[in-house]
Amino acid sequence: MSEQGTLHDAFLDELRDAYDAENQLLKALPKLAKAATADELRQAFEGHLEETRGHVETLEQVFASLDEKVRGKHCDGIAGIIEEGKSVMEEDFDEETMDACLIASGQRAEHYEMAAYGTLIAWAKAMGHDEAAGLLEGILDDEKAADEKLTALAEGGINESAAATAQPKAEDDDDEDEEDAPSKPAKGAKRPAPAPTTGRRRRPR
Ligand SMILES: [Fe+2]
Ligand SMILES: [Fe+2]
Repeated sequence: MSEQGTLHDAFLDELRDAYDAENQLLKALPKLAKAATADELRQAFEGHLEETRGHVETLEQVFASLDEKVRGKHCDGIAGIIEEGKSVMEEDFDEETMDACLIASGQRAEHYEMAAYGTLIAWAKAMGHDEAAGLLEGILDDEKAADEKLTALAEGGINESAAATAQPKAEDDDDEDEEDAPSKPAKGAKRPAPAPTTGRRRRPR
């Protein structure tokens, strides 16, 4: 008669998955750093690489706190995200666009990790693994901070620089860009709406 797995087994599975994901990221982050042009972005990836080394060690402490052997189990999810990141790096994008794309790849990984650690923490708490929960919360804080840092870099200039490189294309007869092109309106196009007046709409009497 086979024994059915419990939430504890599922928790260990997820933990092994996270451990493998962190190890995969240890190999992927240097590639992101190398592909980055903006100094701050490169430093962000390098900084998170250091934190990721810490995550591997912290997860080892989590295994120890549960009297479990340290083990990884191939994480298909992060492997897919890393694979997508690699394809982007093979594209022939200009430097600014590549930086914007590297941020997009990095944030996918962070969000995946945030989801995984959120679950692990909730399950650890539910089963009374307080030490494990505390350790995992420390990792989750790093992932959230890394994600916020990437958002700040994207919105603090990288997206704008990348968008500036997209401008000249508006002159090409490129259908895809038509909506964004601020060129003169096509024949028969509606006149632009008048600028809204201040305040709320007047109520009809
Ligand atoms: Fe991590
Ligand atoms: Fe991370």
